[in-house]
Amino acid sequence: MCGIIGYVGKSEATPILMDGLKRLEYRGYDSAGIAVAGPEGVTIERVEGKLAGLERLLAEKPVHGTTGIGHTRWATHGRPTETNAHPHRSGDIIIVHNGIIENYIELKKFLVGEGFEFTSETDTEVICHLIAYHCRKGDTTFRALARVREELHGSYALVVMNAREQGVLYFAKRGSPLVAGGGEKENLVASDIPALLPYTRDMIFLEDGDYGLIRENGIELYGADGKRIERKPQRIPWNALMAERGGYKHFMQKEIFEQPTVMLDVLAGRIQKDRGAITLEELDFLFDGSKLVFDRVSIIACGTSYHAGLVGKYLIESLARVPASVDLASEFRYREPLIDDRTLIIPISQSGETADTLAAQVMAREHGAKVVAICNVVGSSISRAANASIYTHAGPEIGVASTKAFTAQLAALYLLALYLAEKKGMADRKTMAARIDELLTLPRLMKNVLNCADHIREIAEEISDATHVLFIGRGANYPVALEGALKLKEISYMHAEGFAAGELKHGPIALIDHGVPVVAVAPRDAMRQKVLSNIEEVRARGAAVISVMTEGDAELAERSKYTIEIPEASWCITPILTALPMQLLAYYVADHKGTDVDQPRNLAKSVTVE
Ligand code: M6R
Repeated sequence: MCGIIGYVGKSEATPILMDGLKRLEYRGYDSAGIAVAGPEGVTIERVEGKLAGLERLLAEKPVHGTTGIGHTRWATHGRPTETNAHPHRSGDIIIVHNGIIENYIELKKFLVGEGFEFTSETDTEVICHLIAYHCRKGDTTFRALARVREELHGSYALVVMNAREQGVLYFAKRGSPLVAGGGEKENLVASDIPALLPYTRDMIFLEDGDYGLIRENGIELYGADGKRIERKPQRIPWNALMAERGGYKHFMQKEIFEQPTVMLDVLAGRIQKDRGAITLEELDFLFDGSKLVFDRVSIIACGTSYHAGLVGKYLIESLARVPASVDLASEFRYREPLIDDRTLIIPISQSGETADTLAAQVMAREHGAKVVAICNVVGSSISRAANASIYTHAGPEIGVASTKAFTAQLAALYLLALYLAEKKGMADRKTMAARIDELLTLPRLMKNVLNCADHIREIAEEISDATHVLFIGRGANYPVALEGALKLKEISYMHAEGFAAGELKHGPIALIDHGVPVVAVAPRDAMRQKVLSNIEEVRARGAAVISVMTEGDAELAERSKYTIEIPEASWCITPILTALPMQLLAYYVADHKGTDVDQPRNLAKSVTVE
């Protein structure tokens, strides 16, 4: 949450900071600000609301200089006002911060006693006063920052500027992400990869405890122990264009329609068609011959990634016959789960930075568990903290509502389940070959579903005035129902709930009233007949049923007000296909209502606080 950036170089800093902040705006958009050091000193401009407001202000009052810092905020402490917007300043010290300072009340008391005046309601303001305090006592900015790192409890990624020092910025990281990289005679630090992509694809991922400085001609990095370190940059497999909207009205729309191509990338290099086998060499350490080195799988994730995990449980248990559990990371970390060295933990995360998922995974490793992350961002904290990662290769996902990352996670989980099944000898060559053949058809099948977008838009417009929408499904499509409801809530602000269809009569059926839309995810599989009965039950009470079903299912069509068809497929891949109408339905409802699809209210893409 919150995006920060710092730039030192030969070019005008303002457009570079603004471009970087635009690429980070998905992390928070309550307020924004920049500080730029120019010939006349440092100018700070901040606005309440989105970056567009700051852009307008800067067009009227241009700010010049070649060193600067910027921030786009997701409010934690203090309302989203201009006074609480970053950068914050204490004398010559100006900072931007992403994270939460847990001991800020105690530090504030101390600093007030030392004569510092506070002007905001933020926890961040203590950081700049604390650095200023140490500088006042005779420390250099670098030394003061090194000290302050020890004094802060909580999480932070910081970029610090001293108005008296030209051409240098300081940074520090613990718990919140920070990457550094440079172009020709310029260097940058930022919260996330997309901000740096226009300048470099070789990035240094900072570790907790790291701090240092950037100048036009270099990056100096120090570890938690204060010793200078050299860290090799990692090559990022993305380019700047991938993080742009490319002619689409919204990033979410682009990301939905990209999914067939993403699927090709997920599968690329991981399928040996001739051998009927899956290649996931990174997981070889999970086997001792044909024996697994773990007895059970524990999946941890949040939000959409959690829904992918729920589908993963069905796949892993059914295909590989390994017991699997799924937990919300925020619950898992506090419930004293049973973990030992025979547990395989699978954190699933698009961003690789979700605080709860990361903390749960770190805790699990401390108990001796093996960790295989399913992650989209190469070099992210979650992938670095794992023994191995299955990267989803979905490219940068900018829309706050996760779409392509979800279907890529589902495919990665399916590959994992097949890989385990094959290595354990649970699937013969013929079965594997059939499954692989089907997997290879996925991009085409997905295109077929996306071709129905106009039809789904019409349905979306019909239901967009509903007070609530219910989603039901069973088996591996029950999590898809949960995901359909989450998508609709988060971008259209409509009340929506997802249920296991068999649970309706245990309570939720009381919500059904005349005309309530019920989206039934009911492809032709072993559970279809059961869902059909549940559809009858809601129809009998007046629901308007929208069935997401296998093409040509006349029986279901007869019982539905609207139908959305997916091609015939095995149960293992139907969630990847049924997820697409869920995404399109939510997208078109939100677009019809005119909400801010890519930046829905109160949300941020990357949840780096618990
Ligand atoms: O980056 P992660 O996958 O760890 O993020 C987890 C959730 O915050 C995320 O899926 C969130 O629920 C999305 N907004 C859903 O669209």
